[in-house]
Amino acid sequence: MNNLEMKDVWKSYKQRNKEEVTVLKGINMLVKQGDMVAIMGPSGSGKTTLLNIVSGIDCYDKGEIYIEDSDLSDLNKEEVALFRRRRLGMVFQDFNLIESLSAKENILLPMILEKRFADEQEEQAERILKILNIQDIQNKNIAEISGGQKQRVAIGRALINNPAIILADEPTGNLDSRSTKEVMDYFTLINQELTTSILLVTHDTFAASYCNKVVLLKDGVFKNEIDKKGSRKQFIDSITEMLAIIGGEQDDIL
Ligand SMILES: Nc1ncnc2c1ncn2[C@@H]1O[C@H](COP(=O)(O)OP(=O)(O)OP(=O)(O)O)[C@@H](O)[C@H]1O
Ligand SMILES: [Mg+2]
Repeated sequence: MNNLEMKDVWKSYKQRNKEEVTVLKGINMLVKQGDMVAIMGPSGSGKTTLLNIVSGIDCYDKGEIYIEDSDLSDLNKEEVALFRRRRLGMVFQDFNLIESLSAKENILLPMILEKRFADEQEEQAERILKILNIQDIQNKNIAEISGGQKQRVAIGRALINNPAIILADEPTGNLDSRSTKEVMDYFTLINQELTTSILLVTHDTFAASYCNKVVLLKDGVFKNEIDKKGSRKQFIDSITEMLAIIGGEQDDIL
């Protein structure tokens, strides 16, 4: 099954000086059930725009986007919002958790909004807390837990409604290397055990190396893609090489 398909998607923005900048120039992309894909590319290349378009946070000018074979353009604003809540899981660089709620309440938020039965919520929370190994911090306030734990809570919230795909924008951008490894290990676990598709944006070659495929976005199009072959170390070398050759200035990307 295809969990996400983008066909010839275009997006431009009007800048403050009224000049129009075309950020995405005919994007085609296919994410199948169980894929784990990283999008890399220079700052300003449109990675966040692409995720925001898929999630419905931003609109697109032209093209087609299908999530589990539903055409997003067939839906009105309210339906897109509902669809997002039910079928997409979102994870952000700065966690976007609600500080006044506990870790468990944050995870349950999408179910609370859906007014799901209390016993169903309990059952799901227990399952998700166990998968992410955060049972012991479930009643803590967000301010009391570490960055890595916060991101695991955010992943739990993304996962609670059994989404078709998780979209993650620089999910390790605010984490140290230990927490980065931990969070990427959990993404991998979810991807392998629950076959949840994951599309993540990252500047970090190490984080990208956990994925099965890395695509490079530059100048509004996908310039290159590489599939994981061999060991993680070999994949890191291939990604680094791709960034060096096609990405131009390495400093611009990493
Ligand atoms: N709401 C907006 N209005 C006008 N221009 C925008 C808007 N959002 C993004 N842009 C422009 O679109 C381009 C792509 O931005 P985007 O945030 O998608 O890049 P990115 O690849 O995520 O960059 P980074 O790696 O720094 O996060 C940039 O030139 C940016 O200035
Ligand atoms: Mg971005």
